[in-house]
Amino acid sequence: MMCIGINAYKVIKRDNHEKIGGKMRLKDRLAIVTGGSSGIGRAISITLASEGAHVIVSDIDETPKRGKYHEKNTTTPTAEEIIKSGGQGTFLKCDMSDDQQIKKLVAKTIDQHKRLDILVNNAGICFTTDSQDTTTAAFDNLMDINLRGVFLASKYSLPHIKKSKTGRIINIASVHAFNGGGGPAYAASKAGVVNLTKDTAVELAPHGGTVNAICPGYIETAIQDDLTEQDIIESAEKTPLPRLGLPKDIGLAALFLASDDAEWITGISLIVDGGLLAPLPVS
Ligand SMILES: NC(=O)c1ccc[n+]([C@@H]2O[C@H](COP(=O)([O-])OP(=O)(O)OC[C@H]3O[C@@H](n4cnc5c(N)ncnc54)[C@H](O)[C@@H]3O)[C@@H](O)[C@H]2O)c1
Repeated sequence: MMCIGINAYKVIKRDNHEKIGGKMRLKDRLAIVTGGSSGIGRAISITLASEGAHVIVSDIDETPKRGKYHEKNTTTPTAEEIIKSGGQGTFLKCDMSDDQQIKKLVAKTIDQHKRLDILVNNAGICFTTDSQDTTTAAFDNLMDINLRGVFLASKYSLPHIKKSKTGRIINIASVHAFNGGGGPAYAASKAGVVNLTKDTAVELAPHGGTVNAICPGYIETAIQDDLTEQDIIESAEKTPLPRLGLPKDIGLAALFLASDDAEWITGISLIVDGGLLAPLPVS
């Protein structure tokens, strides 16, 4: 729940994870969501599970992050939350900067469930320091998680996703993929994800599956702990639909791309930002 004055902008919020439609659009599908314990990955996991998918919630840490501004009271692990709501969820620990752990995540999923239909590459870290304040170690670590991790998870998952009649890869990039000003590491990693999405889309297309990215604007998660309260208020103010995004805004976009409704959409980057990128930068 936003707590620092955003309500002044007449925010209309639906309840988190409100279900749209009555039917189970992802019944019998097996999904892996990386970084699924917190924030956007948590909302994606819960949304996909609410539509019938069995979700492997993968993360370096099973305990949800509790942010300074957002998700202050989130404590129940995602898979537990899914099961409490009558869905199917399993936690598997995996560090997305570790090649062997990613390989094992996919192998274990296939061993236990014999199928993989949906991979959501969501795990990511963010810092926006400039080139002088970004060490090579910090740059490499961010790239390992945000870009190399997406490549490796896709590489190991693709042989199995190719066998699915409804194969999907959904990569979480960012509005920072398209502009500078977000520091040399984060923005470059997300631009890489957008292009990797197109390449993987071409590879999967002959097998009938799709690969798309979602580029969120500013979303209320613990990743914003580095911002000041003023930064957050300004982010909401400069968004044409004047509020920050909620994790479920991204969860619902991921559900659409995972569903049969999006079967002829591939290689795109769906911007979900309340219109943040819409105006001319000088306006
Ligand atoms: N929140 C935003 O404003 C925003 C905007 C654009 C894009 N994004 C992207 O959305 C994705 C999710 O971000 P969020 O806002 O939910 O952040 P978050 O910090 O709330 O959650 C990120 C999750 O990823 C996990 N994670 C971090 N490093 C990992 C690793 N090495 N291996 C496995 N898991 C790891 C964390 O434990 C955490 O559960 C990220 O890729 C981020 O770049 C976020």
